[in-house]
Amino acid sequence: MLRIVVCVSGGGTNLQALIDAIGDGRITDAEIVRVISSSAGAYAMERARKAGIEAVSVVPAECGSRAEFEEKLAGEIRKADPGLIVLAGYLVVLPAALVEEYENRIINIHPSLIPSFCGKGYYGLRVHEAALERGVRVTGATVHFVDSGTDTGPIILQKAVEIQEGDTPEVLQKRVMQEAEHRILPEAVQLIARGRVRTEGRKVIIE
Ligand code: GRF
Repeated sequence: MLRIVVCVSGGGTNLQALIDAIGDGRITDAEIVRVISSSAGAYAMERARKAGIEAVSVVPAECGSRAEFEEKLAGEIRKADPGLIVLAGYLVVLPAALVEEYENRIINIHPSLIPSFCGKGYYGLRVHEAALERGVRVTGATVHFVDSGTDTGPIILQKAVEIQEGDTPEVLQKRVMQEAEHRILPEAVQLIARGRVRTEGRKVIIE
């Protein structure tokens, strides 16, 4: 059984998608052992508790320094002994040492088709605003491994979503979540849990 730690900062709909997929058998070989939030009030914490999952918060602003935060976060992650860390709307940059320690065992969901609309500053509604500003016809979501860059790691799964006339960033964000993020994140977790994912340099091979 793959032990998963999910890191969150906000509403937690992607966390919910994982909980639901475990509940209805789309994910068979993994369990969420702990949820770690960067904000004490995040609704994602509530979702975790409702599902009977231990939820702890490690809040950067409550730590004396970035170093203290990094140490605390690493401690909370190690305690759960995860085989996989899922960043599901986690708005804090992970400590470089953790990224190294858990190489190819950390995945992130990003609400665009990487390499479009990603990297520094592209998070939340900003991603969808940029897609609409650029006038693309198709956007989507990407699940990728986390490396030392921002949204630069090997791509595991992507799903396209069409832009529709009259879309606002909010409307588009919701469609991308429902049609893409909430589907490919559980799919990627199941593939990893079944041992079907390996990397070859920057490429992911699904077996
Ligand atoms: C999602 O759009 C995700 O792709 C991004 O942050 C958002 C988190 O939403 N990284 P939620 O907290 O899972 O509802």
